[in-house]
Amino acid sequence: MSSPPLLEVDRLVMHYVTEKGEVSAVEDVSFSLKKGEALGLVGESGCGKTSIAMSLLRLQADNAVFKSGEIRLNGENLLALPEDEMRRHRWKDIAMVFQGAMNAWNPVYRVGDQIREALDLHFRPRLSDAEVTERISRLFEMVGLNPAMANRYPHEFSGGMRQRAIIAMALSCDPSIIIADEPTTALDVIVQDQILQELKKIQEELGMAIIYISHDIAVIAEVTDTIGIMYAGKLVELGPTVEVFARPKHPYAYLLLSSTPSVTGPRRKLAPLEGEPPNLLNPPTGCRFHPRCPYATERCSIDEPPMEVVGDGHQVACWNWQEVPVTISQEARP
Ligand SMILES: Nc1ncnc2c1ncn2[C@@H]1O[C@H](COP(=O)(O)OP(=O)(O)OP(=O)(O)O)[C@@H](O)[C@H]1O
Ligand code: SF4
Ligand SMILES: [Mg+2]
Repeated sequence: MSSPPLLEVDRLVMHYVTEKGEVSAVEDVSFSLKKGEALGLVGESGCGKTSIAMSLLRLQADNAVFKSGEIRLNGENLLALPEDEMRRHRWKDIAMVFQGAMNAWNPVYRVGDQIREALDLHFRPRLSDAEVTERISRLFEMVGLNPAMANRYPHEFSGGMRQRAIIAMALSCDPSIIIADEPTTALDVIVQDQILQELKKIQEELGMAIIYISHDIAVIAEVTDTIGIMYAGKLVELGPTVEVFARPKHPYAYLLLSSTPSVTGPRRKLAPLEGEPPNLLNPPTGCRFHPRCPYATERCSIDEPPMEVVGDGHQVACWNWQEVPVTISQEARP
């Protein structure tokens, strides 16, 4: 029998309450994560990726409201836990590399001391000073930093090194799940690639599960087993990364991938995606993608398509997925 999922997001709906109304940031999103699995969440800016990540840690903004759904860690609904119980899980079970965190180091403290503080706060039972020093050295080695760097200040680190140290901090409490929200976005392509490959190696060695979040599907294709494509607060396609890459079924995924030829090849814009993502204060009726979708039919603006199983572990939310070409045209693949 296959092992039960470590994490299950079950029909999660999360809105932000604002003066102008409710922002429908996460709308009926479901996915699960097994021990050791690497899942990618991809989509344009503002589609709800960080909102999902913050919900998983229950670090959502003050104006966020969970309307329905559950987030289950080993079967326990995190959304129903009192805050002090949630604190037991945060960092120890689920840790996060926050979007833009590499710029959040406090400039006046040594990097090692900042990790030490996090360990003191979250690691139970507490470690002795010697154990903490040993642990930080080990974490630094793991992420490819010289342990001596722990005594340095953030300004003495390059961007890539600061991000490696952030990853070390996220790993410090031995979490079973790490969420990496745009972990390499601000870095140059070579450093990006090195860090992602190293993170993948660490993840596999430790048997940790990971959720990679990125607006760039090419960046995380190589390091994920499963990929979820988001559009305007909805998860519109979910499946094995190789399968989604080879045979995307959702028109948005298809267009996204047609303009991302391959992970290794040059970028060639084939079918540019026209228009802007919708305002989530007032999302389109029916399928949220319908105003931009070349495959839209009358029904699309009226009825919302449910997730439908289209292959082994492959689901898509589209009324007309069968109209989407079976594979991305060969010209798209250099
Ligand atoms: N605290 C908030 N109050 C109101 N709206 C918010 C709040 N935080 C985020 N939003 C809105 O919710 C939607 C989802 O935002 P989110 O940050 O989750 O997107 P994202 O996919 O992470 O984007 P990016 O790729 O730019 O990081 C957006 O429309 C955003 O403007
Ligand atoms: S349901 Fe309709 S509008 Fe939505 S993606 Fe499918 S074809 Fe396009
Ligand atoms: Mg984000």
